[in-house]
Amino acid sequence: MRTPIVAGNWKMNKTIAEARELVTAMRGELAQLAADGKIEIVLCPPFIAIPEVAALVKGTPLRVGAQNLFWEAKGAFTGEIAPAMLNQVCDYVIIGHSERRQYFGETDESVNKKVRAALAHHLKPIVCVGENLAQNEAGQTQAVVGAQVRAAFKDLARDDARGIVIAYEPIWAIGTGKAASGAGANSIIGLTIRGTLAELYDEATAQAARVQYGGSVNAKNGAEFFAQPDIDGALVGGASLVAADFLAICKAARA
Ligand code: PGA
Repeated sequence: MRTPIVAGNWKMNKTIAEARELVTAMRGELAQLAADGKIEIVLCPPFIAIPEVAALVKGTPLRVGAQNLFWEAKGAFTGEIAPAMLNQVCDYVIIGHSERRQYFGETDESVNKKVRAALAHHLKPIVCVGENLAQNEAGQTQAVVGAQVRAAFKDLARDDARGIVIAYEPIWAIGTGKAASGAGANSIIGLTIRGTLAELYDEATAQAARVQYGGSVNAKNGAEFFAQPDIDGALVGGASLVAADFLAICKAARA
């Protein structure tokens, strides 16, 4: 049995004060939902709000994640954040989000370096993969997503691979209000993502890894994804900024 995991990717939203307000509004109910271990809930604020959010959820089952990291340990890398800085206040880190790939030069190779750096510092990676609209329409989804998974997991040992969360996020579904269908996402996750993990490792590893769906998940459509056998929760953008919506999604995802 895989425990579903819902992560709120706040992206570049919320000041520290706004973060405090949002977390205060939902943490009691979220903590209750997560109390018996039937769902894992992760909040991923911008870097500067992470310590505040971590302090607010301390002592609850709620977890905190970052939206990026750099792979070097320290030094002259202006503007970057090291794994050993994050693991003081985070359990998770999102790696390879399509916005980072599209706007900030993230590549399959840098994703792999970041995954290794995260694992070496006991941060759990949430690795994002997904095809763009043109690739989808050209029937390249399986090839693109399979290649992204292979690159992200390059040279990783099986025990490390099992602990990595993958988020399948078709780029055409992110922030567009046009979510994938539950069955469509399930089939890419089952056939392509778990299929690739089975090829790289074995069937048990493919079945053990948790794979989220992401892309326009909201309070209404969440249940359609969570009913699918291969989907283990969601990576939520826009709807994670609204307490009532994020709560509704987490409720629907609870096993
Ligand atoms: P969205 O974003 O829920 O706003 O579509 C999802 C994501 O980018 O992780």
